Amino acid sequence: MSVFSFKSVSVTANNSSFVFLRYDRARLSLRSRLPLPPGPKRLPIIGNLLQIVTSGKPFWETVHEWSKIYGTKSGTSFISSQDTVSEFTVKKASIYSSRPRYIMPVISGFGWTTVALPYTAELRRQRAILQKFFFNSDVLNYTEIQQRESYEFLKNLLRSPGKYDKHAHHLPASTIMMNVYGHEVEADDPYLQLADESGRAFIEYFSYIFLDLLPWMQSLPEWFPGTGFMKVAREGRELSDKVRHRLYSLTKSKMMNGTAKESMTTKLLGEAANTGKANNAETEEEFADVSAMMFLAGSDTTVTSIMNLVLAVLQFPDTLRRAQEEIDRVVGIDRLPTFEDKENLPYINAMCTEVMRWEVVAPLALPRCAAQDDEFRGYHIPAGTLVLPNVWSIANNSEVYPNPSQFKPERWLPGGVNEKSIRPMSYALGSGRRCLFITAASLFATFNIERALDANGKPSPLGGHEWSIVRFVTPSTCKFTPRSEKAAALIREANGSV
Ligand code: HEM
Repeated sequence: MSVFSFKSVSVTANNSSFVFLRYDRARLSLRSRLPLPPGPKRLPIIGNLLQIVTSGKPFWETVHEWSKIYGTKSGTSFISSQDTVSEFTVKKASIYSSRPRYIMPVISGFGWTTVALPYTAELRRQRAILQKFFFNSDVLNYTEIQQRESYEFLKNLLRSPGKYDKHAHHLPASTIMMNVYGHEVEADDPYLQLADESGRAFIEYFSYIFLDLLPWMQSLPEWFPGTGFMKVAREGRELSDKVRHRLYSLTKSKMMNGTAKESMTTKLLGEAANTGKANNAETEEEFADVSAMMFLAGSDTTVTSIMNLVLAVLQFPDTLRRAQEEIDRVVGIDRLPTFEDKENLPYINAMCTEVMRWEVVAPLALPRCAAQDDEFRGYHIPAGTLVLPNVWSIANNSEVYPNPSQFKPERWLPGGVNEKSIRPMSYALGSGRRCLFITAASLFATFNIERALDANGKPSPLGGHEWSIVRFVTPSTCKFTPRSEKAAALIREANGSV
C-alpha cells in the first residue's frame, strides 16, 4: 500500500495543525458569508489529490508543510492545536462524532465497524458498550491477562527470537481474544490468523479512495481493467462474516455447556438474559459487532507500538541500557516485573510515553465528518467536511518537543524538558487506556536486543514504516538474547503463578 489518500476535494491546513478536507459531496451552504479555511489551490474533481500523491512524502508530512505556509502570522502553536483537537472532539462532539462512509469498507462488508458509522443510534449504542467494557477497568481485569500474555511473548521469543514480529502480532490479539471472548490462544490458532488477516484487510480498505472519487466504477463488469477491488470486496465480505461470528458463536456454545471463561461477550449475553433481551437477533448482531470491533481496532495498533519500541531501542541502544539498569535496581534479577512495579519504574513509563510520540501509530487518527454546517474561528465548515487531527504534526512540533525525531524518554522524567507537556496518549490514541508497560518492562528485564551485523561487520538496515492509516513496521534484522541463564529460567517458569 503506497498512497494514503482521501476522497478530498479541498485540502486546507491552518496553524492549528488541523486539516480540513471537503468532500466532493459536501454541501456548500449558500447562507454562509464566512470564507472556507485557507489552503493550497485545488483542481476540479480531484482537488488536492495530485499534490498529495506526487509529493513523495507521507500525507501527514505534506499537510504539516502546508500548515506552515497557510498558518497565520501568530506562528504555529501546536499546544493550542491540541486544544483545537479537544474543541472539535469534545466540545463540539455532537457535530464531529460522525465518521465518513467510505465506499470500500462498506462494500467489503465492514460498514458495521464503529469507525465507519455515521452518527446514528447504532454508533451511540456501540460506543456505550465500548465505554462500559473497554474504558472502565472495573468490569474486566485487563492487567492480569496482559501480564500473562506478555510473559507468553517472552517464552515465544526464547523459542524463536528470529520471529519476533510474529510474536509481537500474537501478543495483543491473544490479550484481546481472552478479554473479549475468553478464548485461550493455542499454537497455530486459526483465530490468530483471522485476526491478522481481517485487521490488515480492514486497514487496506481505506486506501481504495479512488472509488469515492469515481463511484461509477462499481457498476463496471468485473472483467474490466481496474476492477480488482471487486474481488477484494467479495473476499472482504466473507472475512467480515468470519470475524463477526466465529469466535462469538464459539463463546456462546461454550456458555451453553458451561465451559466459557468470563469475558466481555459472556457478560453482555448474561446481562441480556437478565433484562429479557436474550435471543434478540438485533441485540446479538450488535454484540457480535462490538466484540469484533475490539479485535480489529486493538490488534494492529498495539503491534505497531511494540514494533516501534523494539525499533527505538535498536536505534537508541543507550535507552535499553538505562531501562535495564532501572529494572535491575528496582525489581532485581530474581523475578519478572509485574504491574505492581509500575510506579517505581519511571524510566520504563517514560519509554512507553515517548514511543507513542516518537513514531505515532495513526498519524491522522481517524477521519471524522461534520454532521452539519459549522463555524470555526471565523471560517465556514460545510457539512460533510472531513476533520483530521494531524497527530504526526502535533507529536513532531520541535517547539514543544525539542529534537522530535530523537527517541528521548528522559524528556518525560521529573525535571525533563517535557515533564509538564501534553502527553501523546491524549492525542495519539482514541479515548481509553492503552498499556505497553508490562510488555516493555518484562522484555527489557530479560532480553538484550541488538542490531545484527552484515558480512562486513556493519549494522544491518533497520525496519521501516508503511504509509497507511495505521502504520505497519517491517521487522529489523536483529538479535534477541536472554540477558542471563537466570533470566531464561524466569521466563520458562513464568505464568505458573499468575
Ligand atoms: C497503541 C495502540 C492504539 C492506538 C495508537 C490507537 C489509536 C486510535 C485512534 C487514533 C482512534 C480514533 C480516535 C478518534 O477518532 O477519536 C482509535 C479508536 C478506537 N480504538 Fe484505538 N488505538 C490503540 C489501541 C486500541 C486497543 C488496544 C483497542 C481495543 C482493544 C482499541 C479500540 C478502539 C476503538 C473501539 C476505537 C473506536 C472508538 C470510537 O469510534 O468511538 N484501540 N484508536
